[in-house]
Amino acid sequence: MTTLVLGGTGFIGRRAVRRLAERGERVAVMDINPNAVSFAEFGDLVTVMRGDIIEFEDVVKAVLASRPDRIMNLAYLLGSGDDTPHFTMKLNVLGMDNCFEAARICGVDRVVYASSVAVSGQQSAFGDRMVDEDDAMHGTSQYAMHKRFNEFQAQQFNSVYGMNITGIRPANVTGPDKVRGSTDHVMCITLPASGEPVSFPKSGFMRLPVHVEDVAEAFVRVTLSDSPHHSVYNTGGIPISLGDLAEMVRGFLPDADISFDSDGGKEDSGNYLVDNSRLLGEFELEYPPLQSRVRDIINDVRRDNGLPPV
Ligand SMILES: NC(=O)c1ccc[n+]([C@@H]2O[C@H](COP(=O)([O-])OP(=O)(O)OC[C@H]3O[C@@H](n4cnc5c(N)ncnc54)[C@H](O)[C@@H]3O)[C@@H](O)[C@H]2O)c1
Repeated sequence: MTTLVLGGTGFIGRRAVRRLAERGERVAVMDINPNAVSFAEFGDLVTVMRGDIIEFEDVVKAVLASRPDRIMNLAYLLGSGDDTPHFTMKLNVLGMDNCFEAARICGVDRVVYASSVAVSGQQSAFGDRMVDEDDAMHGTSQYAMHKRFNEFQAQQFNSVYGMNITGIRPANVTGPDKVRGSTDHVMCITLPASGEPVSFPKSGFMRLPVHVEDVAEAFVRVTLSDSPHHSVYNTGGIPISLGDLAEMVRGFLPDADISFDSDGGKEDSGNYLVDNSRLLGEFELEYPPLQSRVRDIINDVRRDNGLPPV
């Protein structure tokens, strides 16, 4: 089977591509930044091409060149773009639509795309309870609105054309090389791991970290499935305040210099109580404890800095 991964050289994409190739699957990657990573170790199994998802022709060319059975779309603008609404809309909304429409006209009816926990908005909109995929969406940021529209458009394609398009809503994806999107929970681990101080406004601010390897595995399993039971899945994660995360880091690095300007912040947090039983149950996924993932990230950074593992 062949999977075309759009945005496949990014943070999640590069891992999803490797995981597919390690299973012996053929993978074609299209990315605007094709040289960000090398898949040379997989030889002909992984091919990489440059393309811009905003250009419908590029997407169609990529589909025709690779003749995929499945398409995974991870191409998006993360962590910025509020000051460039026109460009960001083209990448996030038109780009996603280009993916769905190119899949349709080329006869690929299985598509998996990234939505986000951001669609739900603030935890305060739900009170102190878990949120699942059927709850109302309250996200109002540009990013959240684009993801909400992506989900709407996927449903349109599914109902009008009988396609089988599935969304995954990652939570706060964490990993040693994350540079875009939510990064406070990442810097709380990576900067102390390389001996640098780090400071945050509020210790009670909640995050919902989930390791990038676990998210990549979720994308792969959902993509390889012929007929997922649902059209959207939460990855969820492990809810933790930045203050408690700092304590966890200090458990491995007692000298870690992590400071906070003040307490509080819980009431300002995005949705951090997320029910992911749909994804974990159907795809038999189990996340390792956060503590062991924090240790993995610390040791990834220490290895890159020539330091011994903790
Ligand atoms: N990282 C997270 O915490 C997180 C959380 C929730 C949802 N998501 C979603 O997961 C998906 C992947 O996120 P990521 O963390 O891997 O981001 P990333 O920025 O690392 O990867 C995005 C990839 O898209 C590529 N790209 C950008 N513009 C393009 C264009 N015009 N044409 C083709 N490719 C283009 C980039 O070069 C990059 O390789 C995104 O849809 C993101 O919104 C991520």
